[in-house]
This record gives sequence, structure tokens and C-alpha cells, in this order.
Amino acid sequence: MKNIVILISGRGSNMEAIVNACQREGWPARIAAVISNKASASGLQFAASHGIATAVVDHKAFDSREAFDAELARVIDGYAPDVVVLAGFMRILTEGFVRHFEGKMLNIHPSLLPSFPGLHTHQRAIEAGCKLAGATVHFVTPELDHGPIVTQAAVPVLSGDTEADLAARVLKQEHVIYPQAVRWLVEGHLSIEQGIVRHAQGASQVRWGD
Ligand code: GAR
Repeated sequence: MKNIVILISGRGSNMEAIVNACQREGWPARIAAVISNKASASGLQFAASHGIATAVVDHKAFDSREAFDAELARVIDGYAPDVVVLAGFMRILTEGFVRHFEGKMLNIHPSLLPSFPGLHTHQRAIEAGCKLAGATVHFVTPELDHGPIVTQAAVPVLSGDTEADLAARVLKQEHVIYPQAVRWLVEGHLSIEQGIVRHAQGASQVRWGD
């Protein structure tokens, strides 16, 4: 049984999708803990109500990124994680933290990386006149929203779309590709060769949404 630790900062809808898929599909894994940098993250309630251990490491209580990341790593390590999942965890991570969990930490970002790393991705895609937008699951490297790509989902950008319209269309796909990617990692199907992620059984790493 592998241990999955999920980090959130807010709503936690991707975390919910992963918790539900793990249970429904009977993964050889359990969600060992959900950890937030904010006590107010509403996703913590969902986790607690599903009998999952929760913890808060408040970044405001630390005077440096290094100190916060060291404590966060210590708390995560307490759950003996095989996989660490960043699910809307809105913190820039230090290189030391990222290296500590290298190869077992995934992130989801709501754009077709390497386009639009950072914030306000949907608005920026609309303003750039993009016809496609989407989401990317990637292994975490020290560079923000960057790293070997596990899977991507693409959706159309429709004329008249607001930021909220596009965010909702992308989020629906996030809830499909993120559980799938976490499951692949848990089951040992992924390898990284020269920065390219391969699936051992050749599963499609592309999804088209509408
Ligand atoms: C998701 O859209 C996720 O892709 C994004 O935050 C949202 C969290 O929603 N993450 C990032 O922007 C990371 N750079 P959730 O809390 O409902 O899962």
C-alpha cells in the first residue's frame, strides 16, 4: 500500500477528485494526509469528513521560505509518502524542498505548459486569443510550473468566454487527468527519459475535453 500526501491551499476540488478515485477504483494506495498552508482551506473539512488525517503548516508563522519548507517537509515525511500531490498548493517552493521529493511530487497547472506558468492563466489565454487552453500534470522541478509533463488535457476557448467560463471548462478536465496521473505514478507506470515522461504501457497522455 503506497502513501499519498496531498497539499492544498483552498477549495481542494482536485484533492476531492483524487480521494474519490482512489476509493472508487481501489488503488493500491491510501491518502495518508491532506496538508494545507492555510487553516481556512475548505478542502480540509472534506478530508477530515472522509477520515483522512489533516495538518496545517501556516507559512505566516515562519520568517523565511527555507524555514517554512523545512517544517513542511518534516510534517510530510511523518506520513512516509510515496507520492506527494500539489493540488492547488499556492506556494513557491525552495530548491531543497523540491529535490527532497524529486521524482515523487506532481503538480497540476491550469494551462497548456510551457505556456502561461504563474497566475491568471485563463485570462492571459483569452487575451492572447488562444483557441485552445487546458491543464497540465507535471513532475515538480525547482522552476515554478515547470517539469516533465505527465499528461495534458486541451479544451476550446470559445468566443465570449469569461475567465470563469474557461476556468470551469478546464477544471472539469483537471478532475479527470489528475487522478489518472496520480494513479499511474502510484502503480509505477511512469518513467522519465531525458525530461520526457513515458507511460510503460503506452497509455494516452492526451485528453480532449469540450
Ligand atoms: C486548480 O485549477 C489548479 O490547477 C490551480 O489551482 C486550482 C485549485 O483548485 N493550480 C495552480 O494554479 C498552480 N499553479 P482546487 O483547490 O479546487 O483543486
